Amino acid sequence: MSLKGEIDRRRTFGIVSHPDAGKTTLTEKLLLFGGAIRVAGAVKSNKIKKGATSDFMEIERQRGISVATSVMGFEYKDIKINILDTPGHQDFAEDTYRTLTAVDSVIVVIDAAKGVEAQTRRLMRVCRMRKTPVIVFINKLDREGKDPFELLDEIENELDIKVRPLSWPVGMGKRLRGIYNMYDGKLNIFTGEDKQVAEEPIQISADSDEIIDYIGEDYTQQLRDDIELVNGVYPPFENQTYLNAEVSPVFFGSALYNFGVKELLECFIDIAPTPRPSEAEERHVDAYENKFTGFVFKIHANMDPKHRDRLAFIKICSGVFQRNTNYLHVRNGKKIKFSSPTAFMASKKSVIDEAYPGDIIGLHDTGNFKIGDTLTENEQLHFKGLPSFSPEMFKYIENDDPMKSKQLAKGVDQLMDEGVAQLFTVKMNGRKIIGTVGALQFEVIEYRLLHEYGAKCRWEPVGFHKAVWFDSKNTEQIEDFKKRKYKQVAEDKHGNDVYLAESAFDLDRAKEKFPDINFHLTNEF
Ligand code: G4P
Repeated sequence: MSLKGEIDRRRTFGIVSHPDAGKTTLTEKLLLFGGAIRVAGAVKSNKIKKGATSDFMEIERQRGISVATSVMGFEYKDIKINILDTPGHQDFAEDTYRTLTAVDSVIVVIDAAKGVEAQTRRLMRVCRMRKTPVIVFINKLDREGKDPFELLDEIENELDIKVRPLSWPVGMGKRLRGIYNMYDGKLNIFTGEDKQVAEEPIQISADSDEIIDYIGEDYTQQLRDDIELVNGVYPPFENQTYLNAEVSPVFFGSALYNFGVKELLECFIDIAPTPRPSEAEERHVDAYENKFTGFVFKIHANMDPKHRDRLAFIKICSGVFQRNTNYLHVRNGKKIKFSSPTAFMASKKSVIDEAYPGDIIGLHDTGNFKIGDTLTENEQLHFKGLPSFSPEMFKYIENDDPMKSKQLAKGVDQLMDEGVAQLFTVKMNGRKIIGTVGALQFEVIEYRLLHEYGAKCRWEPVGFHKAVWFDSKNTEQIEDFKKRKYKQVAEDKHGNDVYLAESAFDLDRAKEKFPDINFHLTNEF
């Protein structure tokens, strides 16, 4: 097949949700359609079990699962689908943000009873920022939930997006009769069985008399009224508005009962974007260009502490990646070739010879890669869009075993390359501060430093509120600012200036006093 043919048949996306909305269940049902797995229960939830947050076995179990389910590829009707998994736990939100830089679209799962939840809001903010096309799946229709119209209003208001329903529930909870697919005018009758394969829906128009035979007069009337209202309120669906991330199509269903999932998948392969162009600092990179380019968006450390090699996940942006071919590692200027690149088909890994835009490959790494690194055929290119956000929690990291200071430094360095947390060095005294999104990451770092690097660390409290990157054309003001705030000025791992604000008030005051300085909550500006 031609390069264009290969690219055109690829769909790379992420499923995001607040924990418990049904991401794992939906992923599993999608894989069943692709024949990628045979039985339900094969996909393990990467959720951190309640009450197990301090259990390190749980963390290790998590890491095991997260490598197995990081990318799940399968084929459906000749379309190569790559699902990128995202951690549900909010302490690992950075990881999810980075994964979202490697997808071309997103499916967001919402629990019909709970509606929009905190994590959904946060993740959608990132999608909006990146203009990622989003499909909404409203799940758990087999249970009593909110009124569909109310849910759609809530999604529009809270997520700041426009929606367009493409399927519509007939009843809900115990009274769920079916789902009417407005996209292709088919009715899917709900039988209440947990199905491994979805039944073929019935091709029937909501206006025909025949539909009454299936769902009765009352439900038919309700459905007709609802459809009229939907068509009155929401403009007709246009694929381009979805691709422009202006309107999100909405599907209803029950992942548990495999109901409404096939409709979602069929529409998805029709409308979802093929690999989109990527932005580099130097230029726009089109997927259809002949020369290979790609970037590292995730690094996974080996589970076995005796082998400290890692797996770097590369998103292919353009051209064809080939095994045993020299590519330029742009940051360090070296040429490297890879003898055993792996692809991910469902939860299996296998060595591949070639990979195309939209694909994710795993490369064994002995410490060459950092998140954000670019690989090319020879071009000096730096892909954008892997921002670091200000952490929410800060602690001084101290060496607790003087014999192991080298190990500690190396461990911290490598864990930061993996993107586990962020490191800031206070300019005044060289003390090191680790910043994280959640408390769990401190535990992970301490545990991994000990088990993988033999280093012991100790945490000391420090009362910072945010790490804010800053710059200014006014060098005088910058110098003045650094002098006055010397206790709070640090540098990040790449040597950029960071202001460690003590509170929101402190930051506001700094902004007022130093009007020529720009303060940024991400390092990409
Ligand atoms: P997550 O990955 O988004 O965190 O959610 P997950 O799929 O693990 O689903 C969370 C819980 O919701 C699971 O129940 C799952 O069975 C249930 N669930 C998912 N989809 C549906 C649905 O369409 N209808 C109903 N009624 N339930 C659904 P659990 O009891 O937490 O776990 P399990 O022990 O059943 O696996």
